[in-house]
Order: sequence, then structure tokens, then C-alpha cells
Amino acid sequence: MYPKIQTVISAAVLFMLTALMVPNTRFAAAVQGAAPDDEQELKQMRTPDVVFVGTPYDLISTMLQMAEVKKSDMVYDLGCGDARILVLAAQKYGSRGIGYDIDPQRIIESRQNVSKNNVQDLIKIIQADIFTLDLSNADVMPLYLHPDMMSQLVPQVEKMKPGSRIVCHEYGFPDIYKPDKKITVISNEDNAEHHLMLYTLPLKR
Ligand SMILES: C[S@@+](CC[C@H](N)C(=O)[O-])C[C@H]1O[C@@H](n2cnc3c(N)ncnc32)[C@H](O)[C@@H]1O
Repeated sequence: MYPKIQTVISAAVLFMLTALMVPNTRFAAAVQGAAPDDEQELKQMRTPDVVFVGTPYDLISTMLQMAEVKKSDMVYDLGCGDARILVLAAQKYGSRGIGYDIDPQRIIESRQNVSKNNVQDLIKIIQADIFTLDLSNADVMPLYLHPDMMSQLVPQVEKMKPGSRIVCHEYGFPDIYKPDKKITVISNEDNAEHHLMLYTLPLKR
């Protein structure tokens, strides 16, 4: 009788440990090769392709709903600015995220925002040019970038996992790619109209 109980307990412990480790293993794989936040040496890279303008918070909530973000998702924000999208996603849904920006000042602000909101276990901020990234570990990708950048990103996006969701603020992919959903909303923050587009991979023509 005793060995049987021991076996059951061992199996249960193993199951719990595995469940705890799977998301962490994926997180580790996603940031493979990157130094920990506080060890990455920030440098002046080339000029950003677009300046920082934050997405209004009420729109971020709508974007996260459109992408149906859930706890198990890995969210990549390319050109994360102050990481407001990742922080809100972590707070609302408990999702993990990686924010990439080319501008060292944005990296500093993002890391401060992540620490201030106590979500450093869920979010990593990395200085990088977004056009050098492998996006295959992302489940959700919010984007607020210049139209030229959206065109340039297509080859990387086409290698993303089927079923990944990309939700764009203002500018979508070139017109040959059809969004699954497009809405126009007025933000309470600036009383202006904004366009939001959802694409589910693979991109559809
Ligand atoms: C319009 S802001 C969007 C910020 C944030 N995603 C949001 O919606 O609140 C664009 C950001 O992209 C960054 N950026 C521009 N070119 C980049 C590049 N080639 N690689 C990485 N980041 C870039 C800028 O520094 C800026 O923070």
C-alpha cells in the first residue's frame, strides 16, 4: 500500500512542478540570448523609425479585448515606448510580455514602469531593433508603428505561429492583407477617432 501512495504523491508533485515550469520555460526560450534586464548595457543605437507616442489607456483595454488576451499568452510589444500596454495586460490578465525598443530612454522608462507596477516577474524589457527579431514565440502582438514599418515587418510576421493575434493601433499592414476586424473608436483621453485592426495569423489576402 505504502509504495502506491508514494507513487501517487510523486506523480502529483511532478505534475504540479511541470505545470509551474512550462510557462517559465517558454519565457526563458523567448528571451534566450538576452541579458537580464539589469545587466543589458544600454547604448545609443540608430535613430528610431518613429517617435514615442503612447496609445491612450482606454484604447489599450479595447485592443487587449480584441486580441482576447489570456493568462497563458506571451505578448510582444514591438516599439514598447513606456511599456504601458504590457503592464496593463499583465495587471488585467496576468499575461507575460516582452517589450522591445531601440531608444535607451524608452527602455529606462519601461523598466521603471514595470517596477513601479510590480510586474517584473511577468515582463522583460529589451533594447533591440524590432527588424532583427524572431517573433515565433509571440501569441499576441499589439503594434502602434508607422505604415512603412508595418510593410517592413511583414516577412517577420509571416513566420509567426498560426493563431497568433496582432492588434494594430491606427496603421495596419498594407492593404493587400485583410484584417479580421476593424473598428473606429473615440478615446476619452483625446476625444479623437482612432482605428484599431485585428489580424489573426496567417495573414489573409
Ligand atoms: C508610437 S510609439 C508606440 C509605443 C507603444 N507601443 C504604445 O502603443 O504605447 C513607437 C515606439 O517605437 C520605437 N521604435 C521606433 N523604431 C524602432 C525600431 N526600429 N526598433 C525598436 N523600436 C523602435 C520608438 O522608440 C517608440 O517608443
